[in-house]
Amino acid sequence: MSAHGEPVPMTARKGAALKGVANVPGDKSISHRALILGALSVGETAITGLLEGQDVLDTAKAMRAFGAEVEHLGPGEWRVHGVGVGGFAEPDAVIDCGNSGTGVRLIMGCMATSPITATFTGDASLNGRPMARVTDPLALFGTRAYGRRGGRLPMTIVGAENPVPVRYKTPVPSAQVKSAVLLAGLNAPGETVVIEREATRDHSERMLRGFGAELSVEDSPDGRVITLKGQPELTGQTVDVPRDPSSAAFPVCAALITEGSDVLVPNIGLNPTRAGLYETLRDMGADLTYENPREEGGEPVADLRARFSPEMKGIEVPAERAASMIDEYPVLSVVAAFAEGRTHMPGVKELRVKESDRIDAMAKGLRACGVTVEEGEDWWTVEGRGPGGVTGGATVESRLDHRIAMSFLCLGLATQKPVAVDDGGPIATSFPVFEGLMAGLGASITRTNR
Ligand code: S3P
Repeated sequence: MSAHGEPVPMTARKGAALKGVANVPGDKSISHRALILGALSVGETAITGLLEGQDVLDTAKAMRAFGAEVEHLGPGEWRVHGVGVGGFAEPDAVIDCGNSGTGVRLIMGCMATSPITATFTGDASLNGRPMARVTDPLALFGTRAYGRRGGRLPMTIVGAENPVPVRYKTPVPSAQVKSAVLLAGLNAPGETVVIEREATRDHSERMLRGFGAELSVEDSPDGRVITLKGQPELTGQTVDVPRDPSSAAFPVCAALITEGSDVLVPNIGLNPTRAGLYETLRDMGADLTYENPREEGGEPVADLRARFSPEMKGIEVPAERAASMIDEYPVLSVVAAFAEGRTHMPGVKELRVKESDRIDAMAKGLRACGVTVEEGEDWWTVEGRGPGGVTGGATVESRLDHRIAMSFLCLGLATQKPVAVDDGGPIATSFPVFEGLMAGLGASITRTNR
């Protein structure tokens, strides 16, 4: 079932080469943070390029429930009047974060050190995901959490009345956990410190500074040490959200495996904590170039050009690159299926607790399409079948996971027989214009008649 209605079965089949320009939507991670930091600031935050996917819309609604004014002015254009750090009001209804782990975890963090109580829920996917990774460090501030067994949603968070600052070493590489602790630290006196062994996406750090927080980052033998001075006055900013490298991955990877393709994906944020997929594709021998590299709003940006790449080779993907491409393994496995030789992806345990168990979802679907996949708890391998070598011809489950749905639809553009997904509805959480954008490039992706 789709997150917000009836299932939307979809089918992708081999057709024309993909050609043209793909304007992908705004970055999901930055969009959530722009709304949240806008809500925690004094004065007005003007946002352009906001991703209007369901995940981010749910965060906008939540910020209204905590007392911020959030206005939609036009496509991608939003204005937030914040309540200031410590100014959140208690919501009078349950906060529904839909499918979004980022939304719920960041919002739990930012209300956890205010003397208010809020109850959170989500769809079946989100309600099955672990929340203790966030509520454990929040407890150190004095926050209490009452959820279902195993730390699952629905869950009530009782904010700390007299929060104390925290020093926390994240046990899993997670930008969501890091960000939840930093956001909670905003309303605690003194210094809150987060130490992460491996660098994860650093949008929260960049944006907190941009909104006026005092935040320092140092490399130490233990990892990145992030120190935030509590109780700053954040002031409203202008945020131009760059386009999402995780969404760009779909037209880029589809072009690499579809004969004759040549696609330009302009203006993609290439923050090194997010760009691991593109490095990996180049290591595999993909014809992928960065055109017009530049800096925008403090982030490296380039136009990506991807051409059909029949000579790609399977590789060993470095485990230390995992955090910088964690959302891109499903679509990487699709590309790997069309490469020559084996692609081994170690160090990816986190894939098991995303919107779905992504190793299991991709492995089952790829096998049904004629690809050999092996897996362990924190690794998997895909045996490439070479260009044009994948059979397809299966209907796979998207499991309420947008990236699983889009990955299999990209696969079906290059398989011998069509590939169907049982429900493309979840695509709207992160990439609401996916169907139109892919059709514009010439892809044959259709809604399946039932
Ligand atoms: C995100 C962090 C990642 C990623 C998610 C977005 C964020 O999750 O998978 O899509 O915006 O902070 P983890 O930090 O839990 O790995």
